Amino acid sequence: MAEQLSVTTKVIVAVIVIVVVTRWITRKRYKLPPGPRSLPLLGNILDFKGASVVDKFDEWTKTYGPVVTCYLGPKRLIIVNDFDVMYEVFTRKGSDFSTKLSTYSIELVTDGFKSIFGAPYGDMLNYQRKITSRAIRQYLTGDQLEQRVYETLQPIIENMKQESAAFNPHRYLSLAGVDTSRHTLDWLFLVLVAYPDVQKKMQEEIDRVVGDAVPGKEHRSKLVYNEAVLMETMRLYYVAPFAVPRVVQRDTTVGGYEIPAKSLLLTNNLTMMRDPKFWPEPFEFRPERFISSNEDGTEIKLASYRHEGWAPFQIGHRNCIGESLAKLELVYVITGLLQKLTFSFARMEDGETPCFDYGTSGFATMTPKPYYVKVTSRS
Ligand code: HEM
Repeated sequence: MAEQLSVTTKVIVAVIVIVVVTRWITRKRYKLPPGPRSLPLLGNILDFKGASVVDKFDEWTKTYGPVVTCYLGPKRLIIVNDFDVMYEVFTRKGSDFSTKLSTYSIELVTDGFKSIFGAPYGDMLNYQRKITSRAIRQYLTGDQLEQRVYETLQPIIENMKQESAAFNPHRYLSLAGVDTSRHTLDWLFLVLVAYPDVQKKMQEEIDRVVGDAVPGKEHRSKLVYNEAVLMETMRLYYVAPFAVPRVVQRDTTVGGYEIPAKSLLLTNNLTMMRDPKFWPEPFEFRPERFISSNEDGTEIKLASYRHEGWAPFQIGHRNCIGESLAKLELVYVITGLLQKLTFSFARMEDGETPCFDYGTSGFATMTPKPYYVKVTSRS
């Protein structure tokens, strides 16, 4: 009996080995993008020990180039670090890459994938996006937003004026509805206090264009410098460096490499927006890169928002449907505050000089390390 069992066992083992080896030999071979060596089962998880994701991805971009393969445990993750490749992925081959990874945290915040953010790509999602975008457009054509922002700001301005000691401005930022807008303001305040000359120029433009009026649509196109500061802040100090991974729907190609179905794909928008190919001296904070003027310097206007290489709202089928709302809201908030107040740097929680390193992260968003500001009234 024991001998019989062992024969049976041997046969089973032999069959398994033959199946595995045959599958391995005949498996489809993909010309995958290059990437760091990975361990069986663990993948590249250990590479992140002691290094931030931002720094590690940056290092891999420098070593392996525009498209990188790595492994999160056994799961293959393709990282796109180049704007032109991202354009190919999300526009020309959009439907291959428009379904997001279903994680437990996304399920929680999207009420079981019911909201647009977590919904799989398809007709239902396109319909939801269309209806919501139309509602947002309608909301933006009236003056409700500017009134709402103005009314919300007035008590906040009064409270800020009462702050005798340095305070963390994050306390007041619940005025922006969604995490991404709120955390963009966190970075924007740090910019204001780290670059007092920039803040001064913003105030000069606000005084000239808006004066004491309620900031509104009629001022928007003339608040060129203010809006350029917003764009530059979102470029260099981006709140959602990698957004949510996508699940590759079918065998496809990316940047000339072959990508198997069911791989995960992530776009590294932060690295793209610091790519010297599009941004000379990328680490310099320079709002002027978004401003164009006639040769005689007369007409000054914003360079196109569709600047190549600028993608804080993502591109393609799953881009942000709140983009125009977010931008307008942020312009109103910042002009409303700078009309009445001047902010200055007090300290970081753990240092004396402004620091733009990434600090904590929320749901797919990242904020600066805690810092404190002082406020003075302009009137
Ligand atoms: C500065 C502010 C904002 C930034 C930087 C931002 C950024 C983004 C990004 C990068 C995505 C794509 C995520 C991905 O690929 O997984 C996204 C999606 C989305 N955003 Fe925003 N967002 C902002 C404000 C808003 C606002 C105010 C709204 C509300 C109207 C909004 C609604 C959405 C929705 C519904 C999606 C999901 C779209 C889809 O999955 O099809 N966002 N946002």
